Amino acid sequence: MTASRGMTTSQPLKGMVNQPKHPSVRVCSDRQNSKAQTCARARIRLRPRYLKNVVNVDTRTTIQGEEITAPICISPTGFHCLVWPDGEMSTARAAQAAGVCYITSTFATCALEDIAATAPRGLRWFQLYVHPDRQLSKQLVQRVESLGFRALVITVDVPKLGNRRHDIRNQLDLKLNLLLKDLHSPKERTSMPYFQMSPIDSSICWNDLSWLQSITRLPIILKGILTKEDAELAVKHNIHGIIVSNHGGRQLDDVLASIDALAEVVAAVKGKMEVYLDGGIRTGNDVLKALALGAKCVFLGRPILWGLAYKGEDGVKEVLNIIKNEFHTSMALTGCQSVAEINQDMIQFSRL
Ligand SMILES: Cc1cc2nc3c(=O)[nH]c(=O)nc-3n(C[C@H](O)[C@H](O)[C@H](O)COP(=O)(O)O)c2cc1C
Repeated sequence: MTASRGMTTSQPLKGMVNQPKHPSVRVCSDRQNSKAQTCARARIRLRPRYLKNVVNVDTRTTIQGEEITAPICISPTGFHCLVWPDGEMSTARAAQAAGVCYITSTFATCALEDIAATAPRGLRWFQLYVHPDRQLSKQLVQRVESLGFRALVITVDVPKLGNRRHDIRNQLDLKLNLLLKDLHSPKERTSMPYFQMSPIDSSICWNDLSWLQSITRLPIILKGILTKEDAELAVKHNIHGIIVSNHGGRQLDDVLASIDALAEVVAAVKGKMEVYLDGGIRTGNDVLKALALGAKCVFLGRPILWGLAYKGEDGVKEVLNIIKNEFHTSMALTGCQSVAEINQDMIQFSRL
């Protein structure tokens, strides 16, 4: 992905495609972790059932009580205007056309009002990084609620930024270039440059969730949970859902593959909330395996950015279409007419 199109910035991103200037930097965390995701998925083999009449396969399901055309939605990723002129607005229109949920990032480069206006019928959730200035976060949450976003996704796996060696190697420098249109102090209406943004309040704890619950009526979903201990705490704190995620491998090196953490989290919540998954989902079979392990829905991060960079709204629609069609085929070939029929008997673990 390069920064050649659609920048809302005054100058090109410095050194996005330069040669490495840090030869001593070893394998980057992204790549290491994504290999682990791929290996983890490959260990899961499918157990198809036949002679089950799959003339009418129905991929529809619901999340938080709202219908989506398939259990394949869009993870929050920041800075869509880096790759396409109207960035998040194109993504929102594509999600609306596809009938799936789009989680808009705190680091969106389009104003939330414009995103909501361009796809008024789309199902949208908002991902929040809690800012050290709680008033700023409160104002943002209330704005999101009034704009018709249907859930608040709190990303918990970024108490500080991970070692992003790709970004160091490529000399990625967002701070000089980008405005975060949705972040400004309650008193001012001017956007906040990225470099003034402290990404998250590192002091946030489980007890702070009650503060968030007191400022919104939206269901709260935690993104980034990977253990049964934290899943049990989420139940205790009346959370509405969990996205099992390792942030696409961009945070902690050597962390569990999200698919490997899924069964443990699903078991821990005992059906008291919906559990979703993101990380490395690239094919219809990947979706099927996640659902067989108990996910209600999966979310896509990078594939959406690739579609957006390729052809904007149409590119995102194409990505969603491809994976939805593949999932339809995966269901038919394993003998499922409906998403509700997908269960643990459809998979087994191989040693590889
Ligand atoms: C370029 C990029 C930007 C991201 N920005 C955010 C973000 O703003 N908020 C967030 O919660 N997660 C963010 N993520 C993580 C994604 O939401 C998601 O967890 C991850 O990309 C899923 O893995 P996948 O890319 O393999 O599908 C980002 C990921 C990428 C690759």
